[in-house]
Amino acid sequence: MTLNAEQPDALSIILAAGSGTRMKSRLPKVLHSVAGRPMLGHVASTAAEVGGRIVVVISPGATETEEFVKSTLPEALVCYQRQQLGTANAVEAARAAFETFPGDVLVLYGDAPLIPSAALAALRDALNQGASLAILGFCAADPTGYGRLLLDQHGRPAAIREHKDASSEERAVSLCNSGIIAVRGGDRFASLLSKVGNANAAQEYYLTDIVAIARSEGLTTALVTCAGEETLGVNDRAQLAQAEAIMQKRLRADALANGVTMIAPDTVTLAYDTKLGQDVLIEPNVVFGPGVTVEDGAVIRAFSHIEGAHIGRNAQIGPYARLRPGVRLGEGARIGNFVELKNAVIEEGAKVNHLSYIGDARVGVDANVGAGTITCNYDGFDKHQTDIGEGAFIGSNTSLVAPVKIGKGAYIGSGSVITRDVGPDALAVARGVQAEKPGWAAAVRERRHRERKPPHA
Ligand code: UD1
Ligand code: MG
Repeated sequence: MTLNAEQPDALSIILAAGSGTRMKSRLPKVLHSVAGRPMLGHVASTAAEVGGRIVVVISPGATETEEFVKSTLPEALVCYQRQQLGTANAVEAARAAFETFPGDVLVLYGDAPLIPSAALAALRDALNQGASLAILGFCAADPTGYGRLLLDQHGRPAAIREHKDASSEERAVSLCNSGIIAVRGGDRFASLLSKVGNANAAQEYYLTDIVAIARSEGLTTALVTCAGEETLGVNDRAQLAQAEAIMQKRLRADALANGVTMIAPDTVTLAYDTKLGQDVLIEPNVVFGPGVTVEDGAVIRAFSHIEGAHIGRNAQIGPYARLRPGVRLGEGARIGNFVELKNAVIEEGAKVNHLSYIGDARVGVDANVGAGTITCNYDGFDKHQTDIGEGAFIGSNTSLVAPVKIGKGAYIGSGSVITRDVGPDALAVARGVQAEKPGWAAAVRERRHRERKPPHA
């Protein structure tokens, strides 16, 4: 992008009022997630990279979308498009927000989550170089359904023809409209929009008509191109899966480039915000939900599922571990197979190696939690805390009935049900006392055999 101290402010309008019927979903289309974040969140974060104000156009009944915008983009302005009369009509709904705006107005689609911010910067760059209107286009292998970008003899956009309205000659054009545009000056944009009509096959107000209108007024238009997969619009579940695959490919490539080893990258699912340190090793079939940070040198073994967790330096987890939100593993901690952790701090060097559930707990430095240990954290009404002191040893198959504290260095006998606090360095055993009756089994066996013998034998 050209460095230009004069570059004006930006305002991004995100269109998200479409009905999304082809998703066949209860959830509004733009709230479907790609790499653990709703599509609208991806688009908004790209717009935020450009800077300036964000306006989201939604339909009036879309309360979930509105709540998402209010909670994740509190600075954004929400506008309502009462009837879905086309993309120009959707932009009209935001008119009050942009008509006196002196800077660059960008239009983005809430269902196109893969647009890189570099493409938006390139559009603004074209405006800096003198264009009044810049359009993001791409070459499609199969352009069916897209608006075709028609260029003049200087390679500048002269018009966009929607597929439905295109002649067979125009349909042969493979250069397509991504839908993303940038206009210098909100007043200019407002005036172009006022001239858009709906005399077309769909009887919709097409935003794309402003290209020909701008040209007829002698304004300069510019074309910026990007890769087709960057403009992918999601209309159905197959395209959602396609967007997910593209995003995963990007996230994995970034991780590999930053010094992460993945034995089978195609089987690893990352989230948009997964942070992986250097020399992290990830075995096959690992799933990262949102909010995970993994520090340098940690090893994540196969089939682990991790969300909302922090994994310390050189820690090891899995295979088959499940880390739920609120987990923090200290340096060198070890979490083994079939262990579930939730809202738990496992301090440096501590081990929970087999078949355990540790929830709402702290496991102190170097403590060892034996196989099958369960924190009974929920009494049917409230959650309670378990605190295991530094260096404590919890014998296998122990139930820790929370709230409960195990002192530093304490030892819990296997199979115990611990309901009261245990002091430091103490031994607590809470299980039935073993009884033994010598010869009992043999005597019973002999009696039973005798009883079964027929009387005349
Ligand atoms: C649009 C473009 C087309 C381009 C294609 C790229 C127009 C007229 N056509 O077509 O040139 O090739 O995108 O994917 O702009 N929306 C509203 N209100 C409406 C209609 C749409 O908010 O009344 C929103 C949708 O939620 C969506 C976006 O606008 O986020 C695009 O609408 P869509 O109906 O998908 O346009 P396309 O037919 O795909
Ligand atoms: Mg579309």
